[in-house]
Amino acid sequence: MVKDEIDELLDEMVQSKPLFKNREAVHSDYTPENILHRKNEKAAVIKSLSPLTKKSRPSNLLVYGKTGTGKTLIVKEMLKRITNHNELKSFPIKWIYSNAKEETTLYGLLVHFGKELGLKGKELPPTGLSISSVFNKIIQYIKDNKLKTIFVIDEIDSLVKPDSKKQEKDIFYMLTRANTRLDKDSFLTIIGISNDLTFKERLDPRVISSLSEEEIVFTNYTVEQINEILQERVKLALFPDIIEPAALNLCAAMSGQEHGDARRAIDLLRVAGEIAEREQATKIIEEHVRRAQQKMEEDKVTTALTSYPLHEKLLMIAVMRSNGSSTGEIYQTYKNLCKNIRQKEVTQRRATQILGDIDLSGMITGKIVHQGMHGRTKKYTLTIPPDTVKKAFKEDLALEDLL
Ligand SMILES: Nc1ncnc2c1ncn2[C@@H]1O[C@H](COP(=O)(O)OP(=O)(O)OP(=O)(O)O)[C@@H](O)[C@H]1O
Ligand SMILES: [Mg+2]
Repeated sequence: MVKDEIDELLDEMVQSKPLFKNREAVHSDYTPENILHRKNEKAAVIKSLSPLTKKSRPSNLLVYGKTGTGKTLIVKEMLKRITNHNELKSFPIKWIYSNAKEETTLYGLLVHFGKELGLKGKELPPTGLSISSVFNKIIQYIKDNKLKTIFVIDEIDSLVKPDSKKQEKDIFYMLTRANTRLDKDSFLTIIGISNDLTFKERLDPRVISSLSEEEIVFTNYTVEQINEILQERVKLALFPDIIEPAALNLCAAMSGQEHGDARRAIDLLRVAGEIAEREQATKIIEEHVRRAQQKMEEDKVTTALTSYPLHEKLLMIAVMRSNGSSTGEIYQTYKNLCKNIRQKEVTQRRATQILGDIDLSGMITGKIVHQGMHGRTKKYTLTIPPDTVKKAFKEDLALEDLL
């Protein structure tokens, strides 16, 4: 058989030396055995849960801190540790973890919680019941079965939206006060986790006081701490001497630019390793890390762009076409685009608002320009390559003719 270029490429790939000995160890859901630099945070979580060791109910707890500071990891690990403690075997605690960003509605979250507790699916249909009757069923179930429960709501901020309905707000309040409806044989403690430091300002004062009976703030990692966390991961994930020390330092430095974000550091390491592997390099060097950073930036932008609603996309295209023009001119271009694809345009006022929002995301930038007696206007320019925009919108059939 004659080998073609694909066979040759495959042969090369099969023969090239692998860099990863355990790829799992650099995936985001991997639980490291060794949690470094979180001594105070671990102790604070354990102390907050310590009433369990006296067989009583811990207070509700709110855990705060920037993204990638180990909140999810530590809350879960500490719950495992305390509930697995030998002395507590005779005091079974049911703790249930949920992520509010994945469930998106309080109803969905409660149904998930109820099912995990042991309620049957037919008692908790995905729709059809009122949220308060789902809530009541859960409380009754906890009471009847004398359950000691802890409900962890990660990314709890996404439950509290400006447009939340009053009923939802009330249930949220009742959830944080659920314990008052239970007797001494059962309890329900809520642990909320959030990386949105302004989230509390959006809460009703009643909810604040009942949800944050206790509060723990996770500090940011320093670049040195991130460096050590990475070194631990490198030992698990890569064969020896695969990453150059300078490349590892760069991963740590790049993820510490805003604040020490361990997730970003580990992601950078993984992507840099994948890039190195793809070019059959035998070592991960700084250049791979730089390219990983660039790729992750691009992916982030692409994800944001593809999830934009239609008129956001159209305005983005309008900015791209009339780069550096005033809001008025961009609006004209946008109106023409709408006409081309037979869509009704939004008002200029709304378009101006949308442009402001896109500006906040950093993909375009606006500069106020004074135009003498005509007052002032904002001129917008694209801050990302036009090709990125085109690539991201390519899949959108409605825009096919415009790109
Ligand atoms: N001290 C640490 N030691 C080892 N790995 C860590 C440490 N802190 C965080 N990590 C790892 O970094 C990643 C992010 O941690 P985690 O998910 O706990 O962050 P978070 O604070 O919950 O962030 P977010 O607010 O974005 O959800 C995880 O993969 C976790 O395993
Ligand atoms: Mg988290």
